Amino acid sequence: VAVGLLFVVFLLGLRHVFLLRGKDLHLDVEKSVVLDIKTELIWKFNETNNVAKCGFNNDPVVFDKYEGRAELFRQNYSLLLKNVQHSDSGDYTAFMVGNEDQKVAEYKVIVQVSPVDLTVDSVSGSSDSCNLTVTCSTVDSQISSIFTCDAQNCSQVEENSLKTPDYYSSLIVYLHGDFIICNHSNKVSWTDSKTKHYCDTRTGKFKGRKDMND
Ligand SMILES: *[C@@H]1O[C@H](CO)[C@@H](O)[C@H](O)[C@H]1NC(C)=O
Ligand SMILES: *[C@@H]1O[C@H](CO)[C@@H](O)[C@H](O)[C@H]1NC(C)=O
Ligand SMILES: *[C@@H]1O[C@H](CO)[C@@H](O)[C@H](O)[C@H]1NC(C)=O
Ligand SMILES: *[C@@H]1O[C@H](CO)[C@@H](O)[C@H](O)[C@H]1NC(C)=O
Ligand SMILES: *[C@@H]1O[C@H](CO)[C@@H](O)[C@H](O)[C@H]1NC(C)=O
Repeated sequence: VAVGLLFVVFLLGLRHVFLLRGKDLHLDVEKSVVLDIKTELIWKFNETNNVAKCGFNNDPVVFDKYEGRAELFRQNYSLLLKNVQHSDSGDYTAFMVGNEDQKVAEYKVIVQVSPVDLTVDSVSGSSDSCNLTVTCSTVDSQISSIFTCDAQNCSQVEENSLKTPDYYSSLIVYLHGDFIICNHSNKVSWTDSKTKHYCDTRTGKFKGRKDMND
């Protein structure tokens, strides 16, 4: 299942932005912004977290939690947030703050899981069985698993998490029928990759076919 890199839909008056973990988020203001000595522009995350602000005739300021990761462009008041994580999912709003607050942008951002890559690394075999090691990787997590197969069946004998995914997502490798499947999921989406397994007991070699779900 390939997830679109970035797409924006307009839903109930609120723009939804879906993007893959590790990508950069660009958000523009949706109304004209004019700052003066008493009015500044501020980008917020989830109501209470301030991301960055821009004052009249001042250089933009990025608040501590976003230091080095966010940028506010003075010429158009756009916000850039680099390398988004699942914890960046939520509501982003921009306000002109002066005598009164005026909302000039509002987005719901949803960070999705990244695609997975499943590879067969090594196969060792004898006349009646073979062992195969598969590795499943995403941009930031990796799992390795060993299967032992005879001419008909396979079973999973070992699993090692080489790089654990973050708290919000999971990465699992399992057998389903003739396939070894790797599934990467979080609350909003999942991606998978699968490979067909079987053991040629005459040569003890693994034969397989890589199959990417579209
Ligand atoms: C705003 O300015 C930045 C930096 O020049 C640019 O990368 C971005 O595309 C601009 N956004 C719009 C909507 O023009
Ligand atoms: C931000 O708000 C969304 C709901 O809109 C919530 O699911 C998410 O957990 C919040 N994130 C943080 C870091 O507070
Ligand atoms: C497969 O692995 C098991 C346990 O690691 C080992 O006992 C067995 O000899 C191996 N079989 C082959 C064909 O390499
Ligand atoms: C392996 O497959 C055969 C034929 O499908 C079946 O009869 C047998 O019970 C299976 N063995 C195991 C260990 O699953
Ligand atoms: C992957 O995992 C998700 C969440 O657990 C599940 O909804 C989905 O059906 C799984 N996909 C496959 C191909 O197993």
